[in-house]
Amino acid sequence: MKVLRFSDLVAAGQVKGKRVFIRADLNVPQDDAGAITEDTRIRASLPCIRMALEAGAAVMVTSHLGRPTEGEFKPADSLAPVAARMGELLGRPVPVVAQWVDGVQVAPGQLVLLENCRLNKGEKKNSEELSRKMAALCDIFVHDAFGTAHRAEASTYGIAQFAKVACAGPLLAAEIDAISQALANPKRPLLAIVAGSKVSTKLTILQSLAAKVDGLVVGGGIANTFMLAAGLPIGKSLAEPDLVGDARAVMAAMKSRGAEVPIPVDVVVAKEFKADASAAVKAASEVATDDLILDIGPKTAALLADKLKAAGTIVWNGPVGVFEFEAFARGTEAVARAIAASSAFSIAGGGDTLAAIAKYGIERQVGYISTGGGAFLEVLEGKTLPAFEILSRRAAQN
Ligand code: 3PG
Repeated sequence: MKVLRFSDLVAAGQVKGKRVFIRADLNVPQDDAGAITEDTRIRASLPCIRMALEAGAAVMVTSHLGRPTEGEFKPADSLAPVAARMGELLGRPVPVVAQWVDGVQVAPGQLVLLENCRLNKGEKKNSEELSRKMAALCDIFVHDAFGTAHRAEASTYGIAQFAKVACAGPLLAAEIDAISQALANPKRPLLAIVAGSKVSTKLTILQSLAAKVDGLVVGGGIANTFMLAAGLPIGKSLAEPDLVGDARAVMAAMKSRGAEVPIPVDVVVAKEFKADASAAVKAASEVATDDLILDIGPKTAALLADKLKAAGTIVWNGPVGVFEFEAFARGTEAVARAIAASSAFSIAGGGDTLAAIAKYGIERQVGYISTGGGAFLEVLEGKTLPAFEILSRRAAQN
């Protein structure tokens, strides 16, 4: 798919003195006090911002943070903590502009962060009026928000329709290149780990991967639904009994290709969902009616580690247990360490996955870490994301 690249405009000297509007994805996890707990997305946004500043542009950057109610500002929705972190990383102050849709004062060489774009009425619904106003703020619109590339909102899609020039930033371009190239002709066996609380949110990716991968490791609540589908007891664990039929269909699709969905042989259970709940390892067939499955057991972890070490390519989305609680973190740690030790090319994406990678310090052993969550999954599914659709349409018009 051919899109205009911001780096080409810079190389052609077409950015100096121009007003550049960068849509980044600075949607980072925060603790209850608002402190940023993981800043990968902020760091990943810097090359584009530096590129624009060094080229002599007047630079406006915006992002969403969370899912605030449009038109109702609350301090917790503010990008102020993001601006502070970005300022530390860039070594310069990053002022936040609160009301910006009707005009922004910014001179060449300056950088401003435009407050949470999801506070603007019409953002989510991709309002034409809002999109046109945003487009009027700039000479060049740069989409560099890979994590939001699967959304068609005013600051990601509408603005790209109406801006004088619309192009892909370096992160957006690098992400799509890395993920699609790694999966175009993957070294086999290709193993995917898809974990998370619900099958329903990841059913389409499970179905699409079932046609491509050699091993599909499920984890978290998703694994519980697959255990139910395999006829195993799961006690009062999180699961979606309505989707047992879909889980069986995924297992059958894999089996018909000579591939497999490994089902846990042992699990770690507790009676309550609490960090200090007492943990017990049980065979998968022996889960009691009042048990909650919160992690895979050591035998399952060892079986998965062997498969991961023998893989040619690994795609990882989601921790296999409640790794935030130490007693239920060993499964995810074993998976992380096996990925790190494997000679396979590994690609990881998703907020919790990034947090697990950071927790176990394996950043340098993972082949490619995507900043996308939902966007990462949609690329794996083979979908064309709205960001690429509109940018390629704009490129074709010029
Ligand atoms: C993400 O965290 O996956 C992206 O920032 C997209 O956020 P959203 O799901 O709220 O659109």
